[in-house]
Amino acid sequence: MNILLLGSGGREHALAWKIVQSPKLNQLFIAPGNPGTATIGTNLPIAADNFPELKHAVLENNIDLVLVGPENLLVKGIVDFFKADAAIQHIPVIGPDKTGAQLEGSKDFSKQFMFRHNIPTAGYLSVTAENIKDGITFLNSLPAPYVLKADGLAAGKGVLILNDLNEAVEELKAMLGGKFGAAGKTVVIEEFLSGIECSVFVITDGRNYKILPEAKDYKRIGEGDTGLNTGGMGAVSPVSFANVQFLQKVEERIIRPTVEGLYSEGIVYKGFIFFGLIKVNEEPYTIEYNARMGDPETEVVMLRLKSDLVDLLEGVAHGNLNEKTVEFDERSAVTVMLVSGGYPEVYEKGKEISGLDKVENSIVFHAGTALKDGKIITNGGRVLAVSSYGNSMEEAWEQSFKNAQLIDFEKKYFRSDIGFDL
Ligand code: AMP
Ligand code: GLY
Repeated sequence: MNILLLGSGGREHALAWKIVQSPKLNQLFIAPGNPGTATIGTNLPIAADNFPELKHAVLENNIDLVLVGPENLLVKGIVDFFKADAAIQHIPVIGPDKTGAQLEGSKDFSKQFMFRHNIPTAGYLSVTAENIKDGITFLNSLPAPYVLKADGLAAGKGVLILNDLNEAVEELKAMLGGKFGAAGKTVVIEEFLSGIECSVFVITDGRNYKILPEAKDYKRIGEGDTGLNTGGMGAVSPVSFANVQFLQKVEERIIRPTVEGLYSEGIVYKGFIFFGLIKVNEEPYTIEYNARMGDPETEVVMLRLKSDLVDLLEGVAHGNLNEKTVEFDERSAVTVMLVSGGYPEVYEKGKEISGLDKVENSIVFHAGTALKDGKIITNGGRVLAVSSYGNSMEEAWEQSFKNAQLIDFEKKYFRSDIGFDL
């Protein structure tokens, strides 16, 4: 079958890497893709959010299935766009429709959903300019620190955690006053949960689901989890503290009620659900949902997924995921992100990347790269995800670390402590 994958990051290169291992694949197209995906599939020079152009490409290339990488396309309604057009409505698009994508697109929606279905999560209050007084009263009732979240998509910057009550009140006012634009018109104030985080990924056809390998990502720029938040500086799988008992609780209390809740509400959800979890005194709580796979988590999850991803995607499309099996690779996987110096603030692009040919026993997924005059150059904050297997996490890390040192570009930076806290 012919597959079109949408997106251009490390996540998409990792998905592409897995897809091309399938005996079921005829041709893989990626829109727009990156220089990494170009080595294993055919990149189409189309912006992934140009839906009419995508329709054209799907028909021209006899695409049988579309897989959506990033959330913005889902929130924008790519699934609904395909469903509404007679010429392409028969082509399955893997991802939730606009309503299902609200699990990620609106924090208020997802909190209401969790409370409706008794899914463990932090207590909260949603606040708009109209009930700001209630918001201040709620903040006063909570112990520090204070968690404020812009309701809508804010490119990973919409969550503030503040120690000081007065500061929290001022930030609440600033957010409602437009600090994050429309995304912050509603602010979710949450009770702070103290624990250790990990992510669990599920693929669902709307009724049945399969659990994929869990992962932990490292969001802060600095070693020891310090400094500014980033899109993710590395990831590991498996996660030692997510043991069998914990994962059983996650399935019973969080995953199953989520999939059943979506179905019972008539929400057609065919795609991935990313559960951002926190373990508090051995008990799992949901921090957030995402309507897609994580980045850089996918760069380790795909390494540990033994089963044929295309077979699973077919199960999602046909609604018979219950007939499929998911097998994990027993080995550990670690990915280390190489980023441009200055990221997540100001950084330069266009630096030539050398040493890719020296890499041995790691898989290098491209994220922010471009091809210029036959050379690979940096083209973003997060540049490459150096991903490796090992018989232990230490072994996998060592491999990624070794190769992270061999690859070079001006002002290259990476964290040397991915997985060290486990
Ligand atoms: P979110 O975008 O909702 O995942 O929030 C981003 C990050 O903020 C999470 O990964 C957590 O580290 C932190 N966070 C969010 N909500 C809470 C909470 N209620 N208690 C503690 N930390 C939180
Ligand atoms: N790594 C976190 C995310 O993909 O949202």
